[in-house]
Amino acid sequence: MKRLTSILAFVLFPLAFAVNAFANNLDETLRVKSQNPQVTEQGQKLFEQICASCHAKDLSGATGFNLKDGEWVHGSAPSQILNNVKTGFLNAGMPSFKGVFNEAELEAIVAYVLSKREGWGNLTYKLYQLNGADDTHVTEDKLIKSGALPKGLADFSIPEVQHYFIEFEGDFYAPKDIDTQVWLQWGFPHELKVYMNGEQVEKGGTAWFPTWRLQRGKQHLKVTYRSGTTKPNQRNLILIGTNLDLTVKLFPLSTKAKGIVEEKKYEIKAAGEILVQRKRILDLPPSTISVGFPAKLNYGFNTKSCSVVGVWQGDMLNIGPNIAGRGEDPSLPLGEWLFHAPKQLKHVTESATCRYKGYRLEEDNPVFAYELEQNQYTLTVIPRSSNTLDFVYTVTGSQPIKLLIPDIPQVRWRHGDDQLSPLDPQGSVLKPSEGGRVVITATLQHP
Ligand code: HEC
Repeated sequence: MKRLTSILAFVLFPLAFAVNAFANNLDETLRVKSQNPQVTEQGQKLFEQICASCHAKDLSGATGFNLKDGEWVHGSAPSQILNNVKTGFLNAGMPSFKGVFNEAELEAIVAYVLSKREGWGNLTYKLYQLNGADDTHVTEDKLIKSGALPKGLADFSIPEVQHYFIEFEGDFYAPKDIDTQVWLQWGFPHELKVYMNGEQVEKGGTAWFPTWRLQRGKQHLKVTYRSGTTKPNQRNLILIGTNLDLTVKLFPLSTKAKGIVEEKKYEIKAAGEILVQRKRILDLPPSTISVGFPAKLNYGFNTKSCSVVGVWQGDMLNIGPNIAGRGEDPSLPLGEWLFHAPKQLKHVTESATCRYKGYRLEEDNPVFAYELEQNQYTLTVIPRSSNTLDFVYTVTGSQPIKLLIPDIPQVRWRHGDDQLSPLDPQGSVLKPSEGGRVVITATLQHP
């Protein structure tokens, strides 16, 4: 028996080793690919076509799990992720993608997922017991507990001692495409320190709600906290990653922040019906009413200027990621901008004052009414397809409408058979048809 085991071990050991080495190689290959923009762009395209419907375009999860936080239920190694995508989770509702994509495409998708990583990786903590509220001497002999936090969230509820110093340390992945910061939403700030790549980060923000700037992409991050004179129920800090103007909560850094970031995610999609929203939207001027069409085209009409101040393609809005308690915080458009203010579709007039009169619904589609230089106008937008919008203006009388056409490379503007030039600073002079109608068609060109 013994001999058999040792023979078996002799036979199996190299096999196990080979499998292991193979996986390690694949992990490395996928990591390298995740740094290669050519590969990740291809992966992004495929992800958005197929995976985004369940995992959300920003990977933050919907029916499928969040794929950018550090939490992996089915394995975190790149090769495991690849394998999970291949086999799927049929019982849980994710199909197998083995026959859908070839190996290179699957690897590109996984590389893209890896490149979008946000939050802590390899996070560990160290807890030191101190001798009193004013003990500031953190020495190795006071270390009482340490360990890994595989969920990638700093857990400020670990200490069970009264006076302590706790340190969280790990790799940190910040978004690569926007500047972000750590924000202390809740907790006493005095004894909280943040170190990036070994150097202390200067505090910004306000005394009670400080912020610390992050680098884009990967960095080494350490956060330390001393209990000091705070009461036990004041110590479970809420640390959240936000954009720099503190209008959008992006990712949690501590356990208590996780629920808050997730709770705040509330997406409005115009699935099967036209939606009208009065929420303030990031990048659009105040007093804009936005309209979302099931064809995944959306626009904003501004009631101060009576202009179309933005058009975006994709799902409508995420109205939830706002910083709590500030009603005026903007919502995020979920798709890609085609244009937004200052580029806009607007009237060229002598006097700039427009009087907005409200909208009525025609087949659920709002028709905006306004007065401009004594003339009565209406505007409604009708989606012709997923890449074509008609802007239908009516005007009393029969004088021409002068419109400034926004200059967007990927949009072609037409009025009937005439191509409109966005470059004319005087605006395009458009003669209404008999009913006083002017229809401008915007068609998105796909590169
Ligand atoms: C029809 C919905 C759906 C689609 C489409 C889908 N997924 Fe999933 N995915 C899920 C669900 C649901 C789960 C959670 C499975 C479970 O409960 O265990 C999941 C889990 C995963 C996991 C495991 C996450 C973890 O924590 O370990 C990965 C990785 C993943 N999906 C990647 C993808 C990729 C990449 C694509 C596109 C090629 C994709 N999924 C397409 C629904 C979907």
